[in-house]
Amino acid sequence: MRKKIIAGNWKMNKTPSEAVALCAELKDLVVNDEVDVVYCVPAIDIVPVVEAVKGTNVMVGAEDMSFEDKGAFTGQISAAMLKDAGVKFVIVGHSERREYNHETNEDINKKVLKAIENGLTPIMCCGESLTQREQGITLDWIRQQVKVGLQGVSAAEAAEIVIAYEPIWAIGTGVTATTEQAEEVCKAIRECIADIYDTDTAEKIRIQYGGSMNASNAAELLAQADIDGGLVGGAALKADFGKIVNYK
Ligand code: 13P
Repeated sequence: MRKKIIAGNWKMNKTPSEAVALCAELKDLVVNDEVDVVYCVPAIDIVPVVEAVKGTNVMVGAEDMSFEDKGAFTGQISAAMLKDAGVKFVIVGHSERREYNHETNEDINKKVLKAIENGLTPIMCCGESLTQREQGITLDWIRQQVKVGLQGVSAAEAAEIVIAYEPIWAIGTGVTATTEQAEEVCKAIRECIADIYDTDTAEKIRIQYGGSMNASNAAELLAQADIDGGLVGGAALKADFGKIVNYK
């Protein structure tokens, strides 16, 4: 059985002091031994948040990282820096970075490889736009994102990573994908993993749904056979996140 993983993506919200306050507010609400709980926070919040969640069940993630090791890359943060700061997970290829920072599947593949090389678990995002859904190319598009994103990743490594399916039209809009739509794509991702690797790897890999997940729709989404968790934006910034973590 795959352990559920509920991750908050704080995006560009919370100053360091606000971040510490949010950790204190959520501390008792997010306790659940059956679920992995992760806060993916802005880079500047990582050090204080790692400190703030010490001794709790919460693990810390980054929202992005460089695919370079080190050197003259002003403003970027390396996998080694994240690792040293106590980070366990890193979101890679979020649709907002694909859109605003022009990240390609090839860039994302390099980040996935670099994260793994440094002992970080990538949460690799994929997702279609509304136009692509209307054109009927959702599954083709997602398979391409997954296949390119995982180039050079071994079966053993793939089994440990997390894939987040986030339909772009459902992010921050309050329009959640229907349970059927979310399950259809998450199932297709698992079949794609079986295709690239084998069924054993496909059974092990964890696949999250993200896009307007909240305290009222989480239970139904998380009850689906191929949805192993959530990547939560807006609802991760308030007490509701505790209800998502304790969705049962
Ligand atoms: P919302 O939950 O705010 O729709 O954001 C989802 C998301 O982008 C998480 O990465």
